[in-house]
Amino acid sequence: MQTVGLVFACMGISILVTPEILGLSASVKHGSRVEVPRDSFYTHEDLYKIQKINHGDDTEARKLYDQVRILCWIMTSPKNLEKKAVHVRATWAHRCNKLIFISSVTNNSFPTVGVDVPEGREHLTGKTMKAFQYVFDHHFDDADWFMKADDDTYTILENLRYFLSSQNKDSPIFFGHHIKDKVKHGYFSGGAGYIISKEALRKFGTHETNASTCRQDGGDEDVEFGKCMDNLGVKVGNSYDRFGRSRFHCYEPATHLIGAYPKWYINFDAHGAKSGPESISDYAISFHYVSPANMYALEYFVYHLRPYGLHFKHQELNQDVTISSTFSTSLISVSPRSSLTAIILKIQ
Ligand SMILES: *[C@@H]1O[C@H](CO)[C@@H](O)[C@H](O)[C@H]1NC(C)=O
Ligand SMILES: *[C@@H]1O[C@H](CO)[C@@H](O)[C@H](O)[C@H]1NC(C)=O
Repeated sequence: MQTVGLVFACMGISILVTPEILGLSASVKHGSRVEVPRDSFYTHEDLYKIQKINHGDDTEARKLYDQVRILCWIMTSPKNLEKKAVHVRATWAHRCNKLIFISSVTNNSFPTVGVDVPEGREHLTGKTMKAFQYVFDHHFDDADWFMKADDDTYTILENLRYFLSSQNKDSPIFFGHHIKDKVKHGYFSGGAGYIISKEALRKFGTHETNASTCRQDGGDEDVEFGKCMDNLGVKVGNSYDRFGRSRFHCYEPATHLIGAYPKWYINFDAHGAKSGPESISDYAISFHYVSPANMYALEYFVYHLRPYGLHFKHQELNQDVTISSTFSTSLISVSPRSSLTAIILKIQ
């Protein structure tokens, strides 16, 4: 049987890729006239391998995977396991260095870790407090940063690692979508996901359990966790990019693009409830209220769909980057708008 390989163009070099190289099942045939028997379509894993080759160079992302280790714990519940959590696991969450699903009860086959707290909105605070304590007790050495997300949060791990690569895990700090309300320095939206440094987790895990420092249950989960961090001396960090664009998001992309915000968001978003594509970072990290179907849609847009003929370069979007020789060093420490203007002038 003659096997005709797939040819991928990679930086001007054509690579002949045979099913054997990809480790695909030998029964899958390729050719200029593709004849695919009904029972031998590519599996998800096959396509993933093809896609990886198609992507060319992922050196930087792989380097950051080892340098900026992220533990993700996902807040879920028994009734959401098959409805939502499975789709989180099938899409973005496998890119976390360590992944834990937290539920009210342990399920060894999913698996989930059960924290002994009843289900219901009024117990989300209890779930979060016990989840971080569990993570501190069992997984403190497994990561540098520790993220909480919901089962309808979508996260782009590569962008999270890039952002954190210029932050210090040994400083007591946390990041997320900043809401200026109810806590002295504000708090981070629970649904947009928030991420705490190793030092913040150490402070949390070793503090005397004391309801006036960290409420054990009740109230709003994200507000209470914000108060807890504030009481422990953990700083609210700034995650806007160099041009003042947001990276963590309370809603789906479409909501932020057209600005279809509810009143509370307009009143309390710490950054003035900006909207439109110019308000969202090219290296956005998270979105919320993402349905299972839209998890797959985002996965496709972010990791698969490409406009032919366009090649995207790496950008330096962190606030404290040392600007490369392309740009004059005088651009450092000027306001986002004037720095953008300066860059545009320079390019012209
Ligand atoms: C445990 O997880 C499995 C796999 O997702 C699921 O089929 C099963 O219903 C779950 N069991 C309980 C008691 O929720
Ligand atoms: C709890 O913490 C508060 C504030 O940090 C402190 O004033 C109080 O004495 C503590 N209570 C106990 C029982 O440790």
